[in-house]
Amino acid sequence: MTAMLEIEGLEQRFHVGGGIFERMRVEKGRLRIPDRIVHAVNGVSLKVAAGEVLALVGESGCGKSTVAKTVARIYKPTAGTIRIDGTDISGLGQRALLPVRAKMQMIFQDPYASLNPRQKVRDIVAEPLLQQTRGRAARAEVAGRTLALLERVGLNAEHANRYPHQFSGGQRQRIGIARALSVNPRLIIADEPVSALDVSIQAQILNLMKDLRDEFGLAYLFITHDLSVVHHIADRVAVMYLGFVVEEAPRDTLFAAPRHPYTRALLSAAPAIDPAARKDEIEVTGEVPSALDLPSGCCFRTRCPFAWERCAAERPVLRDAGDGARVACHLLDEPQRDAP
Ligand SMILES: Nc1ncnc2c1ncn2[C@@H]1O[C@H](COP(=O)(O)OP(=O)(O)OP(=O)(O)O)[C@@H](O)[C@H]1O
Ligand code: SF4
Ligand SMILES: [Mg+2]
Repeated sequence: MTAMLEIEGLEQRFHVGGGIFERMRVEKGRLRIPDRIVHAVNGVSLKVAAGEVLALVGESGCGKSTVAKTVARIYKPTAGTIRIDGTDISGLGQRALLPVRAKMQMIFQDPYASLNPRQKVRDIVAEPLLQQTRGRAARAEVAGRTLALLERVGLNAEHANRYPHQFSGGQRQRIGIARALSVNPRLIIADEPVSALDVSIQAQILNLMKDLRDEFGLAYLFITHDLSVVHHIADRVAVMYLGFVVEEAPRDTLFAAPRHPYTRALLSAAPAIDPAARKDEIEVTGEVPSALDLPSGCCFRTRCPFAWERCAAERPVLRDAGDGARVACHLLDEPQRDAP
């Protein structure tokens, strides 16, 4: 079966200005401030099948949003391929991307920032559909579809003539979902879609997203830093650290038996979802290294309590670790080092 989304070896680097004083140097009689490179995403490979929810988790700055924006082709990837329903979109220009946007839509964390405050809800929801049809869709058809979508996400016809500021946060996210659905997408990229909402409202929006998945067979790349949200919605989970995926596993496997030391540390630090499943807690100290200057070998070695010489010399690759999990850690070869 073709995956709805297949990413292979995805890399995203950003050139940023030099740190003026420490980096200035004179070359051939001229003052030079060299570029510095942020290694935001470093060779990420993932698949999401139709009707599947893959959660991408990790701490702030680990590259989740950059993966989302690169997959949505807001950014052009530095390297790697992105296939949507079998089509490689990594090198496509904006015009060639238009039909792809009918298959793939994004939902953002802050619906208020992503909804035009001067547009009525009916126009916001209809916008992607009008873009797809280059404005040629029949007005009555667009109006009918907009109302049906508003009802589907729990709003009503009376809401169509209001502006975004006249809604609550949860309602605004429902508008964002209706807009994403207007073109009948197959894949939704959702970047922290419930993080700005109260917990009780979060559950309503997550349930709505699950229902829509069941109804339309949607695939989700669902980005969140919140493990309770992951537990609620994900089928599979990919854990990111410093631009690398360090572990990927079915949700229940990941929560019951996390393998990578970073995943174990993340679960140890989170409020217990299933305290009985907590066997070995790991605490890590220190700061996440800068994406401007990646460590050699394993990205997690500067904070890992198990690190040894090999971890600095050789970068571990993501590989099969049993129970459907893939893990990037040298402990797979030397389990005796994994002592409490
Ligand atoms: N446009 C950009 N230019 C330069 N660096 C960037 C840019 N966007 C992101 N970065 C850097 O890339 C890295 C990954 O950032 P990203 O926003 O993807 O993280 P994130 O996991 O989404 O974090 P958060 O949970 O805080 O949203 C960070 O080091 C960030 O500073
Ligand atoms: S490869 Fe080494 S440093 Fe990296 S997570 Fe595994 S044990 Fe820790
Ligand atoms: Mg982000």
